Amino acid sequence: MNIITCKTAQDAGIAAATLFAGQVIQKPNAVLGLATGGTVEPVYEELIRLYKEGFLSFEETTTFNLDEYVGLSAEHDQSYRYFMQNKLFDHVDIVSENTHVPNGMASDLALECASYEAAINAAGGIDMQLLGVGPNGHIAFNEPSDVFENDTNVVSLTQSTIEANKRFFSNADANLVPRQALTMGIGTIMRAKKLVMVITGENKREVTKAFLESAITPQLPISVLKLHQNVTVVLDKAAAGK
Ligand code: F6R
Repeated sequence: MNIITCKTAQDAGIAAATLFAGQVIQKPNAVLGLATGGTVEPVYEELIRLYKEGFLSFEETTTFNLDEYVGLSAEHDQSYRYFMQNKLFDHVDIVSENTHVPNGMASDLALECASYEAAINAAGGIDMQLLGVGPNGHIAFNEPSDVFENDTNVVSLTQSTIEANKRFFSNADANLVPRQALTMGIGTIMRAKKLVMVITGENKREVTKAFLESAITPQLPISVLKLHQNVTVVLDKAAAGK
């Protein structure tokens, strides 16, 4: 496991983006695994900058996102598809058909999960996967649990997550607060050839420590990354602590 410690969250984003830029320069038709959330926003800002300055092209790349809420359309500002369009896809030369986010509006969710997993395999697998972690150690929507889920699957969100999400929805949209999500499984993530985990902020200090010190257990999903043969963890000082 490589650990890179940067001064700030912005610097951590730049470091992670540099790894992705290296991947795309080395293999222009790379398959990239992407994530959403505040941690990865600086990563996308730097990738956009590299693209705009002419250092990088996404023309031949294919992307697969980790997860998506069930019941939210691509146009809903809380959907992960919307996040990706806004934070990356609309600002670079990626071909829209080559960007994949699980379809939370699919009528058959089990079929959507199986098709998503099959599409990743058909693309040759993920070359480099970007990851963030929740304060409880979750990766994608793989929450602490008794088992490591293998493939892309449907998860029920915990009541506390549903309650927390309510603030992002207007009264008119109250019935849209997601109860379920589609997520790559731990197996899907572990099959990526390279993993880049970005952890920033003081509120992630405890989970960083737990990750580095804990045994491998599905109660701390991030702990499984220690079994991967090519993982880079990018921290900022706030997350790294002493
Ligand atoms: C989102 C995802 C999540 C986030 C995690 C951290 O696609 O996979 O695991 O990476 O919840 O979120 P932030 O970065 O907002 O703290």
